[in-house]
Amino acid sequence: MNASDLTAGFNRGVRIAGTGSAVPDRVLSNHDLAKMMDTSDEWIQQRTGIRERRICDPDKGEGTLWLSEQAATRALEDAGLTGADVDLVIVATVTMEMTCPSTAARIAGKIGATPAGAFDITAACCGFMYALNLADSLIRVGRADRILIVGCDCMSSIIDYEDRSVSILFGDAAGSAVLEAVDDPARGSVYQSLQADGRGWPSLYIPRHESQIAEGDEDTKIRIGCLRMNGREVYKFAVTRFQRAIKDAFEKTGLAPDEFGAFICHQSNARIIESAVEKLGLPEDKVYVNIDRFGNSSAGSVGLCLDQMRKAGRIDESKPTMLVAFGGGMTWASSVWRH
Ligand code: COA
Repeated sequence: MNASDLTAGFNRGVRIAGTGSAVPDRVLSNHDLAKMMDTSDEWIQQRTGIRERRICDPDKGEGTLWLSEQAATRALEDAGLTGADVDLVIVATVTMEMTCPSTAARIAGKIGATPAGAFDITAACCGFMYALNLADSLIRVGRADRILIVGCDCMSSIIDYEDRSVSILFGDAAGSAVLEAVDDPARGSVYQSLQADGRGWPSLYIPRHESQIAEGDEDTKIRIGCLRMNGREVYKFAVTRFQRAIKDAFEKTGLAPDEFGAFICHQSNARIIESAVEKLGLPEDKVYVNIDRFGNSSAGSVGLCLDQMRKAGRIDESKPTMLVAFGGGMTWASSVWRH
């Protein structure tokens, strides 16, 4: 199926007008973690591919709002626009400092996007993908002309650093994009999926109260308010769903792996990405990996990769880009993007 068949019924498309990202300066290496808990650089690298991650310093006022604002400002600068040019601001995060007002409303206020609509969404590590696909749809149907999206998580704010099973994986980051209407409906997200299976929630969750602890998880010694994860369950889910999402995109678009200019995958574990490369025959040089330096930054991950790849000239825009993620919920999502 070609792009015009997939987007039949729409009379406009979407382009990425600009991107931006932000990470804190503070580096937390595997060696630093080994001084804090019973783990080692070797164990972490072998199981996850992570060497170090960035974490916010709350004493300096660093956090989700701070990272999101920087990424959003950079995306607007890259697009040559100001906040006044956007109709809507969407922030995807599970680490908002406040639930009211939304992080998006505060960002909109800071960048001068009044009276643009503003709201947060939560889809964990799929957050940026959910925001991207939603924004693309709203622009296509003519409800908005320009939308600023941000995916950001300050995971260090919901990590118990006394626990070695979860803390080693995560870092803090934000990624942002300005999406803009164009006349050609064959540009933008020509295929997308947004999916979830809520039955799997106990595999990855952040309880706010003792009563919310999942059955069988009572003995886990992780503070209330911090992320809990069943690593093995998530691994099994991730390998299966991630590969299924990519395969579905190939089948639905009729595109083969070598017809893509880039693959932007959520960075959760290098082994999960390597397995997809091997099993699905993805061209390795087109699959971006930065988990070694940034760990898993949840909703920040895909946007961070997108911005780093664009700025490094690593996206061949003459071909479609595949973006794909999975995460808590459990959720998974994909998008085939024609530039
Ligand atoms: N350092 C050293 N040892 C550790 C450790 C750490 N940080 N964390 C766990 N271990 C130990 C365990 O206690 C266990 O020891 P035991 O065999 O004596 O009981 C052993 O290592 C194996 O633990 P296990 O949990 O089975 O490891 P694993 O091979 O499944 O790897 C993950 C753990 C977390 C790396 C892996 O399960 C994973 O990547 N899961 C997916 C996570 C993910 O992607 N989450 C985000 C989704 S968006």
